[in-house]
Amino acid sequence: MSQERIAIIGGTGDLGFGLALRWAGAGVPIVIGSRDAQRAQDASDRVKATINAAAAQVSVGGFENAEAAAQASIVVLAVPFPAQVAILKSIRHSLKDAILVDTTVPLAATLGGKPTRTVGVWQGSAAEQARELVPQRVPVLAAFHSLSADALQNLSTSLDCDILVCGDDPAAKEKLFPLVKLIPGLRPLDAGPLEMARIVEPLTALLISINRRYKVHHAGLRVTGLPTGA
Ligand SMILES: NC(=O)c1ccc[n+]([C@@H]2O[C@H](COP(=O)([O-])OP(=O)(O)OC[C@H]3O[C@@H](n4cnc5c(N)ncnc54)[C@H](OP(=O)(O)O)[C@@H]3O)[C@@H](O)[C@H]2O)c1
Repeated sequence: MSQERIAIIGGTGDLGFGLALRWAGAGVPIVIGSRDAQRAQDASDRVKATINAAAAQVSVGGFENAEAAAQASIVVLAVPFPAQVAILKSIRHSLKDAILVDTTVPLAATLGGKPTRTVGVWQGSAAEQARELVPQRVPVLAAFHSLSADALQNLSTSLDCDILVCGDDPAAKEKLFPLVKLIPGLRPLDAGPLEMARIVEPLTALLISINRRYKVHHAGLRVTGLPTGA
């Protein structure tokens, strides 16, 4: 079993629930966070039932967001862009020695616009907005933007995607990379500093456009030309 405990804020939703399923299935202790403790508990029960947690001997629980964040060494934020600020304000004092992994894409669709567009964020990206909202001692990484929640949630689907990780703290990346590798089909790649999230976040809008054209839900990204073992 993994030594890290991952809290997934918004773990009742598409991306968060999919990550919870895959990580719990790989033996990583998971805490699902929600604005509503009962909803978190229900999602946790669904994860346990799906992966047969008793057999897998993995701990999965569900709590209100701040309580969930307080229990974890890695806190994944998986909420819609318009909710990002309020949710971060509600959990920021609960982030003890944790790393924050922000998955937020500022999709225009979340504000009534097109799903194939993003909106401008004053700080440059949603991840840099997150950086401003949590204490400086908390390392912030941006990741998982190009991963299909639909594919994650369907356990019969083999994943096939690079996870571009942006952030300014090498030690935090070193902690996240093995956890990404625990999910078969995912390869973590160091995409550089947090400000690279300005480029990575809009790639989701590109993938949505590609999904529409090819009538699929699982388009992902692979980077070629890297050394073997990257
Ligand atoms: N879906 C994907 O394929 C995908 C892929 C890559 C990145 N992302 C990014 O990951 C984040 C989560 O995406 P998602 O598709 O999982 O989102 P979602 O299912 O719409 O929402 C995730 C969770 O956010 C919580 N939430 C908190 N405040 C909210 C509010 N004001 N309105 C609605 N929900 C709120 C809800 O949990 P409670 O109600 O239980 O609090 C909800 O279950 C987004 O920023 C998205 O851009 C998504």
